[in-house]
Amino acid sequence: MQKPTLSLMRSTGVVVLAAIVAACGASAQKSAVEQDASQAKPQASPSPKVVKKDVPYVPTPQNVVDEMLKLAKVKKDDVVYDLGCGDGRLVITAVKNFGAKRGFGVDIDPDRIADSNANAKAAGVTDRVSFAVQDLFQTDLKDATVVTLYLLPEVNLRLRPKLLSELRPGTRVVSHSFDMGDWKPQKTITVTPGGQRLHLWTIPAKTAQSTGATTP
Ligand SMILES: C[S@@+](CC[C@H](N)C(=O)[O-])C[C@H]1O[C@@H](n2cnc3c(N)ncnc32)[C@H](O)[C@@H]1O
Repeated sequence: MQKPTLSLMRSTGVVVLAAIVAACGASAQKSAVEQDASQAKPQASPSPKVVKKDVPYVPTPQNVVDEMLKLAKVKKDDVVYDLGCGDGRLVITAVKNFGAKRGFGVDIDPDRIADSNANAKAAGVTDRVSFAVQDLFQTDLKDATVVTLYLLPEVNLRLRPKLLSELRPGTRVVSHSFDMGDWKPQKTITVTPGGQRLHLWTIPAKTAQSTGATTP
């Protein structure tokens, strides 16, 4: 059976997002129940760790990966970060097919990072890409020259101040499907076939407004 895409999730709007939020809540409850159970029965084998994600895993199709990197105009001096990197193909493709200098992917799910490392090994690019099990909201972004995202609308909005404050002016940000509210993209394209929308922003020069600083 074909996996649902985030584009499809978007089309079903608030109902689906509410379902995701409910699912995240359910995971958190399950985790607490598992902790209680392990305290009550110390001899029982440990429960598998529940990973609390802000976004479910839905891989970007390879033709869309290629279009995201083209939209960002990835080239040899670029350092490409994918926040929530899934199976790592965005940074692996950036390095292998677009000649990027380096790629870095973070994912909160250790299974995704294991997939990413295996894929990097299979692609022969382990010298130029690295991956870390990490919360994207804790990731140091200052070395990136290109950031790719396939998250959710509210996650993009929560991430936006961090992008604007940590990324250097001129860094390109490409998002699969979801925009950044009233920070208008400089370019939006629709991929064919597939119909996925991709948005591009460039980090502007730092101003008091963009860093959140107040003027006296
Ligand atoms: C929609 S998938 C996108 C995967 C990949 N970027 C792609 O486009 O194919 C979102 C990914 O974000 C990861 N994720 C969710 N919440 C995260 C968080 N707080 N920090 C890091 N990764 C997270 C999920 O585990 C999942 O792999």
